[in-house]
Amino acid sequence: MNPGRSGYDLCMETGQLVDDTRKQLTRFFNGTDPDRLVFAYNSTDALNLALFGLLSRGDHAITTTIEHNSVLRPLHHLAQYHGVEVDHVPFDARGFVDPDAVAATFNARTRVVAINHASNVIGTVQPIAEIGRRCRERGIRLVVDASQTAGKIPIDVQAMNVDVLAFTGHKSLMGPTGIGGLYVQEGVEIRHTRAGGTGVRSAHRPHLDEYPWRLEYGTPNIMGIAGIHAGVEWIERKGLEAIDAHEMRLMRRLVEGLRAIPGVSLYCQDDLTDHIAVMAFNVDGFEAGNTGTVLDVDYNIACRTGLHCAPRVHEQLGLDKLHGAVRFGIGPFNTDEHITTAIGAVRDIAAARAKKAR
Ligand SMILES: Cc1ncc(COP(=O)(O)O)c(C=O)c1O
Repeated sequence: MNPGRSGYDLCMETGQLVDDTRKQLTRFFNGTDPDRLVFAYNSTDALNLALFGLLSRGDHAITTTIEHNSVLRPLHHLAQYHGVEVDHVPFDARGFVDPDAVAATFNARTRVVAINHASNVIGTVQPIAEIGRRCRERGIRLVVDASQTAGKIPIDVQAMNVDVLAFTGHKSLMGPTGIGGLYVQEGVEIRHTRAGGTGVRSAHRPHLDEYPWRLEYGTPNIMGIAGIHAGVEWIERKGLEAIDAHEMRLMRRLVEGLRAIPGVSLYCQDDLTDHIAVMAFNVDGFEAGNTGTVLDVDYNIACRTGLHCAPRVHEQLGLDKLHGAVRFGIGPFNTDEHITTAIGAVRDIAAARAKKAR
């Protein structure tokens, strides 16, 4: 049932599902052309397509210290092997990237700014529209990693001046693993860095220039696309604002609860404006990984510990020596009871640690 490969009913139905999902996601991100919604395996894959397809030898790219390795490593690779110069703009003490600090790093060779919409460690939502406005003034392409925000808070690629948006299926879009993609604004042409079957115009020797095939190669992940489709339907039924309001109400309770515990350090959680429901902390004197193990084994709480694939965030916060931090992320299915349990668990761990230290 490979879409575009045959004309029998099941194949046509699959093709329709793929087209419908392109339209649905284009609407969801307020894009204008569903053909410019392309599917990839995940955000990392999508960001590699975008960064390698936009940057060439001699170009300058700007990113930030708040990024995930899905941006940092492709850019490192481009710098190491392909003659691209890369600068990393630090975030401020509250966890935000200043649009003027980004603009101050522009030079005549700057082609791309790549930044995440919200941090997967400290949850701060970056001022994308303002950064995008400065990029537009200079004809620089803005690539936004929306892995943490797609399905959590509204995204409007037009209002936010985004040129290329990368998303993943398995987080808040409620889809399965192994699916993600890009929305590419009209007028932005990403070079194809791969080539292969598309199911259309097979006699054409080179890979196709037209979207979506320009950035799609071989059989798509139909199960993943169907999963995203169902996920977005669910989100639209629930309402993004209702989901965000629920998660942020629990987040405020969690942050206030943890802040009140002696011997617990929170990072960039002073003000939860422009935040998603993701936060990082440590129990002082206790390795993040050990806190995570106790939370899992003794309290059945799932969290992620370590560097969270975002090493520069931890370096800037001075947490790399402690092997990172513990991260709590709140989703639509979390409840007040979960928050009460989490606060109680951290209180117990901090109290046990303080007793041992005495
Ligand atoms: C901010 C951010 N970017 C990129 C990714 C990578 O997503 P994927 O695993 O879909 O490539 C993640 C996942 O943890 C993330 O949190």
